[in-house]
Amino acid sequence: MKKDYYILAIETSCDETAASIIKNGREIITNVVASQIESHKRFGGVVPEIASRHHVEQITLVLDQAILEAKMTWDEIDAIAVTEGPGLVGALIIGVNAAKAIAFAKGKPLIPVHHIAGHIYANQLENEFEFPLLALIVSGGHTELIVMKGHGEYEVIGETLDDAAGEAFDKIARVLDLPYPGGPHIDKLAKAGTESIDFPRAWLEKGSYNFSFSGLKSSVINYMHNKKQKNEEIIAADVAASFQASVVDVLTEKTYAAATKYNVKQVIVAGGVAANSSLRQSLEERFFGSNIPLMIPPLSLCTDNAAMIGAAAGILYERRVFAPWNLNANPSLILK
Ligand code: KG4
Ligand code: ZN
Repeated sequence: MKKDYYILAIETSCDETAASIIKNGREIITNVVASQIESHKRFGGVVPEIASRHHVEQITLVLDQAILEAKMTWDEIDAIAVTEGPGLVGALIIGVNAAKAIAFAKGKPLIPVHHIAGHIYANQLENEFEFPLLALIVSGGHTELIVMKGHGEYEVIGETLDDAAGEAFDKIARVLDLPYPGGPHIDKLAKAGTESIDFPRAWLEKGSYNFSFSGLKSSVINYMHNKKQKNEEIIAADVAASFQASVVDVLTEKTYAAATKYNVKQVIVAGGVAANSSLRQSLEERFFGSNIPLMIPPLSLCTDNAAMIGAAAGILYERRVFAPWNLNANPSLILK
């Protein structure tokens, strides 16, 4: 029988300072997340400089809390994992330096993790992977379809050509005077509206798994502008519902088409937008009766957290993929 191992993971790529302890890459011992959303709200988006300052203030507190809650000692931790990238450089650096300092001081190996691999592996905290699998990543910074033929093997088959899905939600929320981050507010407001406005769906060329949301964004902005000029009433709930339907339709259809084409055994959805109730429902309906199981993590594991980084680090730990002491934050790290 293999010996149990415990990874302490750190995530600071955007606006959450997070630390988690994960057993064997699959079981959450503790998962601490300090969100900065309140500080960024009044600016309508994440301010990188403010994010970095918060990470500096929070990182040691969050790490202490993770160890305290787990009732573990540093001796019981086998490795330190950290998000290497992509993300905001000033934010990533805080996590990477904290991880390096602890790993060096406590004599533990250091594991570098790609943020998107983390979002994918959030699912392994709930279910075992079966390959080949298809992952739909929909977050504030990413919209990607990735085929995995085995652990740690990623083939990006589609990505956004402009805005990420979450970014589109946040921008349209701003136009509708909803607070940041806008995704959950649009989700809620859309429930009170009808999909009565015909916004465009960017299918792109036939067979493409790429996405584009900038045309939709312009279309919503033009619609609002025209209505205002004509002094006509804008029903915000209908705008929210119609915009959301346009995003959800494209995400659902492209995911379904890719799942069939690549003959996958599982589809997993990850990233903050995976929390969207309409997207969850639409995917569930589309895959119902298809024999392809659909896995969507619980809401707390959809948005940024360190448990997912610890889960993705598991496979690297087992393969002894460790980082040298000169590991640096890489804001545009490629998933490979
Ligand atoms: O994965 P995440 O926490 O951070 C990034 O790595 O980007 O995703 C944050 C994004 C934001 O754009 C937020 O508006 C969106 O996820 N989001 C949602 C919902 N909850 C969060 N978008 C649509 N519907 C939701 N319920
Ligand atoms: Zn993320």
